[in-house]
Amino acid sequence: MKRIAVLTSGGDAPGMNAAIRAVVRTGLHKGWEVFGVRHGYAGLIAGNFQSLGARDVGGIIQQGGTVLGSARSPEFKTEEGRLKAVRALHQQGVEGLVVIGGNGSQTGALALSQMGFPVVGVASTIDNDLYGSEIAIGADTALNIALEAIDRLKVTASSHQRAFLVEVMGRDCGYLALMAGIAGGAEAIVIPEVETDPEALTSELRAAYERGKAHALVVVAEGARYNAEELARYVRKHRDRLGFELRVTTLGHVQRGGAPGAFDRILGTRFGAAAVDALAAGKSGVLIGLLKGEIQTTPLTEVVANKKTLDPRLIELAHVLAR
Ligand code: F6P
Repeated sequence: MKRIAVLTSGGDAPGMNAAIRAVVRTGLHKGWEVFGVRHGYAGLIAGNFQSLGARDVGGIIQQGGTVLGSARSPEFKTEEGRLKAVRALHQQGVEGLVVIGGNGSQTGALALSQMGFPVVGVASTIDNDLYGSEIAIGADTALNIALEAIDRLKVTASSHQRAFLVEVMGRDCGYLALMAGIAGGAEAIVIPEVETDPEALTSELRAAYERGKAHALVVVAEGARYNAEELARYVRKHRDRLGFELRVTTLGHVQRGGAPGAFDRILGTRFGAAAVDALAAGKSGVLIGLLKGEIQTTPLTEVVANKKTLDPRLIELAHVLAR
């Protein structure tokens, strides 16, 4: 019998539980033993393993977060920490590891793989900034949560003829902001990938006011050069020119905590099962992701070495539509 383990690492993402469930049940289906590692790489270093049966992952597919717990482990970034982790895996008799997480987590997965331990990564981050997958687990649910907030803010903004700056997560990537802005019909979108001049933004908002708009909604990515608070500080200095009254809403972790939608449950399920299939086929040092609509593997060396970029046509489209 083969023994494998699964962990979730970095920021939690809705759909991680679907992936855990699929890893466990696909592993059991192959006649393997499956362990969950509590709290990501920190738990791995501490040898915090838990044997998981089919019932242990029952009723979790609809839950947000991760039942295994997650962490950002500074110790795992050291060579000593990583050696402890590999030792713990060997002591437990584990022969393959599935790492569900985003960029930092997959960098850790690559390090383990380069130490000779068989690892398969699963693309999971609400930021959707992971090379090797068009869409990562959690991004769709987080986007829908941001969108619901935007729709609600537009209602109150219209009642009061206000402009809103809505800040969404995404670390250094503008994916969530761009998509939420397009889907929410934002008047402007501010993302790290495009330089935004606060002066030009103020003029754009003024122009929207003069065109008779009842509100103006600006989606701002947290990683943009000027975040929502900084932009607001600038715009407020010129409030006489703005027309609208201004308010700021920062969505923050609200976007991460939701129950996964159907898309993320299915994606997590497919990715988790594919990770176990990859280990069974003797594949490791790869990321499971979705490319051109198909489940594909990409070497972790490529995943870590490359930066995912936004589609410039979508950036242009957002600009054209914001009239
Ligand atoms: O990577 C996911 C993410 O939610 C980012 O969008 C955000 O910048 C970061 O994690 C927040 O990290 P933490 O949960 O550690 O505050």
